[in-house]
Amino acid sequence: PCSLCFLFSVLLTSGSKLWEVPIAQIQHYSTGKLQWEPQCQYQLRHLQDGARISALIPPRLEGHWISTGCEVRPGPEFLTRSYMFYSNRLFKAFQFFYADNHCHVPTYSLVIKGKIRLRQASWITRGATEADYHLHKVGIVFHGEKRMKEVAVKINQTCIGFLSSGRSWVSGTVYELLSSKTGRDCTAAVGFVMHELSLVRVEKHYYQQGRVVEELFLGDVHTDHSERMHYRPTGYQRPLQSAMHHVHPCSACGIIYRSDEYHPPILPIKPELTMQLSGKWISTQCEVRPAVLFLTRYFIFYEKNHTWEGYYYHYSDPVCKQPMFTVYASGHYTKGSLSSKVKGGTEFVFKVTRAKVTAMDQATVMLLNSSNPETCGVTGSWSVGMEQEITWTNGCRVLGIQLPHVEYELFKIEHDSKDRTLLFIGERPTDGSSPDRPEKRPTSYQAPLTQCAGTAEVPSKYSNQRSLGKTDNNETTSLKLSPATLLVLLVLYFQAV
Ligand SMILES: *[C@@H]1O[C@H](CO)[C@@H](O)[C@H](O)[C@H]1NC(C)=O
Ligand SMILES: *[C@@H]1O[C@H](CO)[C@@H](O)[C@H](O)[C@H]1NC(C)=O
Ligand SMILES: *[C@@H]1O[C@H](CO)[C@@H](O)[C@H](O)[C@H]1NC(C)=O
Ligand SMILES: *[C@@H]1O[C@H](CO)[C@@H](O)[C@H](O)[C@H]1NC(C)=O
Repeated sequence: PCSLCFLFSVLLTSGSKLWEVPIAQIQHYSTGKLQWEPQCQYQLRHLQDGARISALIPPRLEGHWISTGCEVRPGPEFLTRSYMFYSNRLFKAFQFFYADNHCHVPTYSLVIKGKIRLRQASWITRGATEADYHLHKVGIVFHGEKRMKEVAVKINQTCIGFLSSGRSWVSGTVYELLSSKTGRDCTAAVGFVMHELSLVRVEKHYYQQGRVVEELFLGDVHTDHSERMHYRPTGYQRPLQSAMHHVHPCSACGIIYRSDEYHPPILPIKPELTMQLSGKWISTQCEVRPAVLFLTRYFIFYEKNHTWEGYYYHYSDPVCKQPMFTVYASGHYTKGSLSSKVKGGTEFVFKVTRAKVTAMDQATVMLLNSSNPETCGVTGSWSVGMEQEITWTNGCRVLGIQLPHVEYELFKIEHDSKDRTLLFIGERPTDGSSPDRPEKRPTSYQAPLTQCAGTAEVPSKYSNQRSLGKTDNNETTSLKLSPATLLVLLVLYFQAV
């Protein structure tokens, strides 16, 4: 079987000049080559220009931040979060865990108290700030017997003496898993880590009519459970939103906001939707992948003949304004059964058989131009904005793309509170490898795509407004990678058929 993974792990290696190159140009480039439906094209542009986004470095963390729905972490773990940051740098965070994918049946809650100190702008993840944190206390409250017994057995093995004989646990009582005073730390029994606090970003999204949404991005959790303890985040989890400034409507927000360790949020059971993949799907935000890659995605699935096409637009900045290159890929897919491991998910197998690349900046042109003959399209023929077929060279070695390639996937479809259909595609392995074997199939999801509505013509005025949609994003204008210091490495895995 052939396996090529369509997952990109990109390493940006930057020289010492990284912070000293303030170039604030808007790059104009032709999108005319891309055969999009106008509506999807409009929506992707709107995603970039519709809301003004600002991100202060360092960010202001103070306030109450909440999940906007049931979250899925690798494992899978189903959870909701409610974090409070105070002006004296102290924080109190609730993590609520569940037995089901609706976050309807709580199993236990963690209450985490500590202190956080912001350090510096991240050199690895542009737009993020690094932070140190110190945990004062971690308490656990169980909401049912089953999980409590499992954890008790584990704690008995990993934290000898914690459960003295004769002492039994009861639901609804706080037990201290960690205390900086006594030096005890029994959190390993529930696989607890709080490294998410070591990478933070706050975005303010300004919409029309003065509406503001504030989002708190915290570091990602490694997809491999055994790596979790040591992994320092380079990407983000799905953002929390400010309890004061979140999207409306949000039925889960109020429930999560009012919860505490004794009263975990119980979210309503949503009907399971059938997996109707047909149609066109686009990113809802500028996405970041671990190991630092910013991108938006556009997919078309044809259920009749089980074929698909995808566009991956890569950018060098956290608001997806400075294009680097675009990858077009296509192939076919097979739909499998409902996942038994990740409730609510459906299994798929994807095959990539064809790919094209468009360089969007000089740095990428130079990189592709200097590749060895017959390893990435026609050597020396790359130029900005021109698309090249790379299928005949079996991919593009310098970008790490090899064809053909197979991936084992996990998909989920949901409706959001505005009744839009969202498509969740499986999270990429954090180590940059690809889910090219069934055992590596994802157990959590990337940021959702949304279905592009209809095929209505786009009013022509929008096509001229691209450069008017200003983003008052401080770091975007002050940070720009110099081409000479930029090395892009895309890793796609592959086995011969
Ligand atoms: C934990 O270990 C103690 C001592 O070995 C034992 O008495 C107790 O029953 C154990 N508890 C559980 C829940 O396994
Ligand atoms: C699959 O169907 C779509 C839409 O009908 C068509 O555009 C595409 O060319 C087909 N692909 C193949 C490989 O037949
Ligand atoms: C790419 O290679 C072509 C042919 O050798 C050359 O004309 C062009 O200037 C090169 N572009 C860059 C950016 O190096
Ligand atoms: C950067 O942010 C500060 C604080 O919000 C603001 O006063 C300033 O105008 C911003 N600069 C740019 C170039 O957007």
